[in-house]
Amino acid sequence: MDRTAGPPRTGIAGVGMIGRVHLDAVRRTGAPVAGISASTPARARQAAATLGVARAFASSEELVTSDEVDVVHICTPNDSHARLAELALRAGKHVVCEKPLTTSAADADALAALAAASGRVAAVPFVYRYHPMAAEARARVADGRTGEIRLVHGHYLQDWLSLPGDTNWRVDRAAGGPSRAFADIGSHWCDLVEWVTGHRIAEVTALTRAVPRDGGTPGTEDVVQLLLRTDRGATGSVTVSQISPGRKNRLWFEVDGTRASLAFDQENPESLFVGGRGENAAVLRDPAVLSPDAARLSVVPGGHPMGYLDCFAAFVRDVHAAIGGGSPVRHPTFDDAARMVRLTEAVLDSAADRTWKEVS
Ligand SMILES: NC(=O)c1ccc[n+]([C@@H]2O[C@H](COP(=O)([O-])OP(=O)(O)OC[C@H]3O[C@@H](n4cnc5c(N)ncnc54)[C@H](O)[C@@H]3O)[C@@H](O)[C@H]2O)c1
Repeated sequence: MDRTAGPPRTGIAGVGMIGRVHLDAVRRTGAPVAGISASTPARARQAAATLGVARAFASSEELVTSDEVDVVHICTPNDSHARLAELALRAGKHVVCEKPLTTSAADADALAALAAASGRVAAVPFVYRYHPMAAEARARVADGRTGEIRLVHGHYLQDWLSLPGDTNWRVDRAAGGPSRAFADIGSHWCDLVEWVTGHRIAEVTALTRAVPRDGGTPGTEDVVQLLLRTDRGATGSVTVSQISPGRKNRLWFEVDGTRASLAFDQENPESLFVGGRGENAAVLRDPAVLSPDAARLSVVPGGHPMGYLDCFAAFVRDVHAAIGGGSPVRHPTFDDAARMVRLTEAVLDSAADRTWKEVS
């Protein structure tokens, strides 16, 4: 069905940590929430009551094909993304699917092709792009102020799997997929740095490490250390870890150009470091002085801190604008996400045979 009048009616499959963030973001747009699903009908009913959502669908399959839903948000564990997204697209829905888009590159490419053929909006929340100061970094690369980018480097560190007893469905290869740390968070870093620089990661070599966990057998990788080359001649490196005590969600990158360096820290997102030979600066988020794209995302004046939830709200606003038609595509797409799944496979392949791999 093609329902064009009014804001899109949203269904959210899976209301764990991130499903609730999506719910908050959709509510901020004022668009109606048609319903949610969970792992069982009883859990869906309980969550719907807690969250004040009108309808609990009996299953995610029912939700993603329902006539009451125009846009589906898939917020379930990784192994179900491909199947639910395909069902939703074939039912004519617009789809927001969490990353990683799928757990294999072949599935990701097939899904991206299906999305392109469907004519529907198909988006993936690489939401760190929506921090105003990350957008400011992108603008300062695009307008030439940073010069030619020669080096990209940084890390994405978390600590929530650092103890032997720490676990989650992500550790289980069947639910999480063959890559954990890279698919889960390394993909965010790479997407963000590609988006900021306009470069594409063309070649990688990687070292991975899985630490022992209670129960004896290690799960998927906890650490990735990656060396990379981009299609435009920059080199770089990134360390990705989910076992770094004290680091909660430390996504940090620096891009070093011929005229300036830019550094962004997701945990302190209200400023951008700008390095120069003469002097360094911390540019503060103030819409009055930012580039138009960064100012667009800056919905409160400087000095009123913005953060992760605001990124999600801005992402959903862009998705709804694209569904409404007439707006440029500003959101990360299934093509972007499929690229990150191919990169993830190249990382695992490189770690397995200790050679450089090209990223298609
Ligand atoms: N974009 C981001 O910044 C971001 C952040 C966190 C998580 N994620 C992604 O979101 C997804 C969910 O992660 P999470 O942290 O919310 O996990 P979570 O464990 O907190 O939530 C997942 C929920 O899905 C439920 N579920 C399982 N099977 C289901 C099914 N068939 N139908 C409906 N619900 C089902 C689980 O019971 C659980 O409540 C993952 O793919 C993850 O990679 C993305």
